Amino acid sequence: MSDATPPEPAGAAAGARIRPARTEDLAAIRDIYNHFVRTSTVTFDEEETALAVWEHKLELLAETGLPFLVAEGADAGVLGFAYAQHWRAKSAYRFSAEDTIYLSPDAAGRGLGTALMEALLDACAAAGLREIIAVIEPTAAAASIALHRRYGFGDAGRLRNVGVKFGRSLDVLFLQKSLSSG
Ligand SMILES: CC(C)(COP(=O)(O)OP(=O)(O)OC[C@H]1O[C@@H](n2cnc3c(N)ncnc32)[C@H](O)[C@@H]1OP(=O)(O)O)[C@@H](O)C(=O)NCCC(=O)NCCS
Repeated sequence: MSDATPPEPAGAAAGARIRPARTEDLAAIRDIYNHFVRTSTVTFDEEETALAVWEHKLELLAETGLPFLVAEGADAGVLGFAYAQHWRAKSAYRFSAEDTIYLSPDAAGRGLGTALMEALLDACAAAGLREIIAVIEPTAAAASIALHRRYGFGDAGRLRNVGVKFGRSLDVLFLQKSLSSG
């Protein structure tokens, strides 16, 4: 008998399964995101998002062939989500996308972000994307910065004072990873 250990599927280590998002996941996705709208500068949205926003996003990403994934716990439902959306609508940007990744606060800090990131980057490569861009508010998103750097995202610039939320001026960092160079 071989003693080789088969690799764990993405997400298994964090006790979750990663799979494409479905319509029935969208209320949980909205609730996770709206938590950060209310409490954090990791997103520059200031008004809670409606379900229709997420329905539209699921449709758009399906139409454009880009990934929208969820991490699902064994009996805890949707624990987090990640997607890649074209960076800009103009057609010459068609090989570039911005990534987004959010976990429910209870699910953070135990490797699930890593599992989602890995699955998302694989799905981005499979979708033919070449450049992935992360747009990150640096004071609130230390875990996101650490996660992106670990996956080879490098510095691509900083815009200063481009956001205002909770009465504070906010910068954004751009990080970028090339998938085409392997
Ligand atoms: C960003 C996020 C997806 C990361 O997922 P996670 O499962 O918490 O992260 P992991 O456990 O896989 O750890 C990723 C890295 O972040 C680090 N980290 C985790 N929590 C951290 C924290 N609160 N502060 C600083 N670093 C942290 C880990 O040590 C790890 O670093 P390493 O790669 O150097 O070891 C998750 O924390 C999250 O959803 N945060 C809120 C929403 C958000 O910020 N989204 C990104 C918007 S740009």
